[in-house]
Amino acid sequence: MRILFIGDVVGAPGREMVDDYLPKLKQKYQPSVTIVNGENAAAGKGITDKIYRRFLEKGAQAVTLGNHAWDKKEIFDFIDDAEYLVRPANFPEGTPGRGLTFVKTPKAEVAVINLQGRTFLSPNDDPFRKIDELIAIAKKRTPIIFLDFHAEATSEKQAMGWYVDGRVSVNVGTHTHIQTADERILPRGTGYISDVGMTGPYDGILGMEREAVIKRFLTNLPVRFEVPKEGRKQLSGFLVDIDDQTGQSKKVQRVQINDDRPFFD
Ligand SMILES: [Fe+2]
Repeated sequence: MRILFIGDVVGAPGREMVDDYLPKLKQKYQPSVTIVNGENAAAGKGITDKIYRRFLEKGAQAVTLGNHAWDKKEIFDFIDDAEYLVRPANFPEGTPGRGLTFVKTPKAEVAVINLQGRTFLSPNDDPFRKIDELIAIAKKRTPIIFLDFHAEATSEKQAMGWYVDGRVSVNVGTHTHIQTADERILPRGTGYISDVGMTGPYDGILGMEREAVIKRFLTNLPVRFEVPKEGRKQLSGFLVDIDDQTGQSKKVQRVQINDDRPFFD
C-alpha cells in the first residue's frame, strides 16, 4: 500500500495547492491513503469544519493537527464528530477529540496517529510512553501504522523515529515547515523523515508574510503574523510504500512542488 502525506497546509495558499495538486498527485502516484496535516489550514492557525470537510472531499482520508489545534474555537463544536480528524494523542487526559483513528482501504486498514513533541512546545504528556500505548491498541487491528510527530526539535524527532523503528510503518515529522532531506527507511522497517515541510506560500517565512517576520527580528517588537494573500506557492509531501502483511516500509520519497521544482505528470 502507498500512503501520500501532505505537510502542514498554511492558509488559503496552502488550501489552493491542495485543490490544484492533490488530484494530480493522486493520479500520478495512486496512493491508497492520503493524509494531510491541517493545523495551519485556517489563516495559518487552526482548522474549521468546512476546511476539514474540503480536505476529505478533495481526496484525503485523514487530517492531522498539532500545537495550533485549538486556535479556531469552532473546533470544539465539531472535533468529537470528526472521525478522521486526529489531534495530538498526548494532549492531557479528557481533551476533546482523538489521537488515533483507523482508515479502511480495500486491502488493509491504516492506523493514523498524531503526537506532539515537548521540546520548545507545551509540556504535554510524554509522547514516548503514549506511542507505546497506541501501538498496542493499533496492532490489534492492523500492522500498518502511520505516525505524524508534530515537533520542533530535530533531536526529539530522531529519537522518536528510532524509538518506534520496526513498530510503526512510517513516522513523518511536521511543524517546522521546512522539508528535511533525511528521508530513509530505518533498519527495522520504519519509513522516516524529520520534517515533511509545508504547503502554502513559497516566498514567505515559514508561510507568513516575510516583512512582519523580518521586522520582528529587527525590532523585537510584537508584530502580527499573517499569511500572504498573493504570491508564489508550494506543496510539500511524502510518499511511502508499505508491505501490507508486515507493515514495513519498502520505499520512501519526498515530494516538493514549486517554481524551482515543477510538477510533471
Ligand atoms: Fe505546528
